[in-house]
Amino acid sequence: MDYAIQTGNPADQRTPCVVVGVFDQRRLSPAAMLLDEASHGHLSQTLKRGDLEGAPGDSLMLYDVPGVKAERVLLIGCGKQAELSYTSYRKAMAQAVGLLQAGHATEALFCLSELEPKGGDAYQTLLQTITTAEEKVYRFDRLKSQAKPPKRPLRRLGLYLSNVKAADSARAAVAHGQAIAHGMNLARDLGNLPGNICTPGYLADQARELAKRHKTVEVQVLEEAEMEKLGMGALLSVSRGSRQPAKLIVLEYRGGKPKAKPVVLVGKGLTFDAGGISIKPSEAMDEMKYDMCGGASVLGTLATCIALDLPLNVVGVVPSSENLPDGAANKPGDVVTSMSGQTIEILNTDAEGRLILCDALTYAERFEPETVIDIATLTGACVVALGSFPSGLMTADDALADELLQVGERSGDRAWRLPLWDDYQELLDSNFADMANIGGRYGGAITAGCFLARYTKKFTWAHLDIAGTAWKTGKEKGATGRPVPLLTQFLIGRSGSGR
Ligand code: BES
Ligand code: MN
Ligand code: ZN
Repeated sequence: MDYAIQTGNPADQRTPCVVVGVFDQRRLSPAAMLLDEASHGHLSQTLKRGDLEGAPGDSLMLYDVPGVKAERVLLIGCGKQAELSYTSYRKAMAQAVGLLQAGHATEALFCLSELEPKGGDAYQTLLQTITTAEEKVYRFDRLKSQAKPPKRPLRRLGLYLSNVKAADSARAAVAHGQAIAHGMNLARDLGNLPGNICTPGYLADQARELAKRHKTVEVQVLEEAEMEKLGMGALLSVSRGSRQPAKLIVLEYRGGKPKAKPVVLVGKGLTFDAGGISIKPSEAMDEMKYDMCGGASVLGTLATCIALDLPLNVVGVVPSSENLPDGAANKPGDVVTSMSGQTIEILNTDAEGRLILCDALTYAERFEPETVIDIATLTGACVVALGSFPSGLMTADDALADELLQVGERSGDRAWRLPLWDDYQELLDSNFADMANIGGRYGGAITAGCFLARYTKKFTWAHLDIAGTAWKTGKEKGATGRPVPLLTQFLIGRSGSGR
């Protein structure tokens, strides 16, 4: 979709639809007040009839409002003004976009973007406006033999800004928002593709495509023979049970100074997780095609770096494999040796993510990273602990934790920190190897993080468990594109591009 910042009086804009907010008890937002003035009180008169209170979820379409040049005025309930949060703002936004899509307007002037939910600013609002709009219009129908695209899709949104002085920051927000949406869409497409199409080889091809688009990106795909030479015994043990060869995808984006240390993003790229010999129950097993969403978010985030030409160096590392039961698959009790030299007793073959990630993390050492962030749909326990709103964040570094929590708020893609205390480490004790790959019933998200911590001693590192946030189940089943917004906002900050 196209976006344009507009600062003129919304009553004077010729557009198929102007969208304004109404707060609880029929209180008009500033833009709604301008329309009310231009129409000599038409809006407030209409509201007095009681059709819209201003509660979240309320909406009312008005036609031919006198004194207003737009063909339609769409009123959206925003709830109590003092309580407007980014969560409720995004809901109102998504509702408005949904109504526009179902209706006839292919273009609209959005005045909701003038609102500042508490704790935010114009940049944050515009950024989230765009990502929410793009999220709402996203469709994945390439696997339908007869796709039915919307007859009159929304093509252009004007974003109203009452404060002309904020125009520069607004333009940055629009550029960032669009680039993030682009990366999210890539991550969502890859996530939604099924395991028979999106294999490790397919992911590697996608990385090659990405590298073709930009001269500052280089791609390297390590095959199993090379991983064997590097001693990646943990990663290879997982792929041994699969007919699809594993790939270690390495993308280097060099937008910064040649000598500047890179941020390394390591994403779990498990293209289908049946659990292996410790096989999963069959209910909802189809959703394990999403087990590569960490890897997809790395590719998506690199796509946003390219789109924004960010001045910093970023390396993406995506270990990719399937996890299936097979005669050659890992068996409970097997002991493997990781690239780091540490040995692992595999007590549950379904805890495979950490096995492919630990070797990828050791591999990341060679980039002399400034910071490493791994992103993985790692544990069901994380979903039990936090639900599906925040990603689980684990790191021993307080400054990095704060930075990630803050960019999560800013981008509307939140994380919540879990402890990585040494107390948990002993849960990984093994009688036969240096460690076990599971830590027992309790604190499963944390023991998974503790496992990875043993492979990240040589750099500053954070772990994001996105098992609850990377996709939605139920009626809206599908990949979300998270945490591309959080990661991108982090890189924008690190690149010194401000905001
Ligand atoms: N990919 C799963 C984690 C997962 C489970 C993500 C459910 C989203 C929803 C991971 O490989 C896994 O199977 N983890 C096990 C670990 C356990 C065996 C210690 C889990 O969470 O059950
Ligand atoms: Mn698993
Ligand atoms: Zn998995």
